[in-house]
Amino acid sequence: MRISGKIFIIFAIIIFFIILISTVPLPTESYVTGTKIKLPEPRLEGEMSVEEALLKRRSIRDFLNKPIPLDFLSQILWAAQGITSESGGRTAPSAGALYPLEIYIQVRKVEELKEGVYHYNLKSHSLDLIKEGDFSSQLTKAGLSQEWIKDASLNLIVTADFSRTTRKYGERGIRYVYMEAGHCGQNIYLQTTVLGLGNVVIGAFNNEDVKNVLSIPKNHEPIYIIPIGVPS
Ligand SMILES: Cc1cc2nc3c(=O)[nH]c(=O)nc-3n(C[C@H](O)[C@H](O)[C@H](O)COP(=O)(O)O)c2cc1C
Repeated sequence: MRISGKIFIIFAIIIFFIILISTVPLPTESYVTGTKIKLPEPRLEGEMSVEEALLKRRSIRDFLNKPIPLDFLSQILWAAQGITSESGGRTAPSAGALYPLEIYIQVRKVEELKEGVYHYNLKSHSLDLIKEGDFSSQLTKAGLSQEWIKDASLNLIVTADFSRTTRKYGERGIRYVYMEAGHCGQNIYLQTTVLGLGNVVIGAFNNEDVKNVLSIPKNHEPIYIIPIGVPS
């Protein structure tokens, strides 16, 4: 092959990789400011049976203005999406093990944590700070003024990158993602019940406003806002 032919092929390969890189969605980590908070290890045994937790589970909307301990938050995040097997299996089932869910929290009152928005990094069981500040009033507005969002110690936001599932399952993947958010929500209900905390799952909110308030990536669609706190 002539030199000019080789140069052309090398040039074409470089262009191909540039196009490829520019179309790959950025990893979640690139949206965060760099502060990482390692969470305490979750407890794997408890005093309440599954039956008792199911019996006591209720949606709670009235909260005390009190902080919750960091190890309680750690436990709730683990229950929501923690890794529970060597192969990467999680506490909630996932269609095709494709795991479309991403968890964010908006913190107002959690011991040892600054007010702010964080992403749950489940692989390292840690939090990545997205931004500092009290966003509870803005999130309440995005949540159609449901006051329990503002009163909660924290709000856990279940979001999903639908493309991870629809890439394989097409249209049907959409329903799979919503089912998975439901599994995750029930895990949270049961875990808060065991911890003596309370929560409600919220489906009524403005998607775009929630994304803007929390500065979360455009391809992470919010499915649930889950206010969590100490029941009054
Ligand atoms: C998909 C879904 C969406 C919901 N959205 C809201 C909501 O926007 N606001 C709210 O206060 N409760 C919401 N809830 C909570 C229900 O109102 C609650 O589960 C229902 O009243 C039954 O009460 P329980 O959870 O105590 O058994 C929602 C529940 C589900 C499953």
